[in-house]
Amino acid sequence: MNRLTLSHAALAAALIAVVSGCTSTATSAAKPSMSVEQIMEDGFKGKESLSARIAKGQGNEADFKKMASLTKELALNKPSKGDLASWTEKTQALQAAADSLVAGKPGALDGFKTAVNCKACHSVHKAD
Ligand code: HEC
Repeated sequence: MNRLTLSHAALAAALIAVVSGCTSTATSAAKPSMSVEQIMEDGFKGKESLSARIAKGQGNEADFKKMASLTKELALNKPSKGDLASWTEKTQALQAAADSLVAGKPGALDGFKTAVNCKACHSVHKAD
């Protein structure tokens, strides 16, 4: 009984920490410092891009970190075309995949390859 109460308290404290962490991120980093175009040029465009090297299994720790920061910026942007909910879902999945690479989680590379689907995102969100 006591143990149960304790773990509830711990859980509540953890939740509060998570919630306040999110709030401060949302207020301090709500504006992206790079445009989608810049992010694409920097990490996605071309056969030798950062994302291509990572997808081929050639990424190193520094590459993963750069990808994590680019995808974080991407998620902070708003799409010029398409639904914001769809954008949020895609960019957050991509960001989570990049974070998993940084953390060295098992299956992270496959997760990244799935999430970094150029066509799936462009067909909905890229204006031509
Ligand atoms: C989560 C969404 C998303 C994913 C995933 C994505 N892109 Fe993009 N990309 C965009 C959007 C949105 C634009 C349009 C940007 C604009 O011009 O405002 C774009 C534009 C581009 C451009 C044109 C940039 C320029 O110079 O104007 C290139 C090249 C590009 N993407 C390559 C890629 C490649 C290659 C991949 C996959 C490896 C990829 N993108 C994955 C969203 C995405």
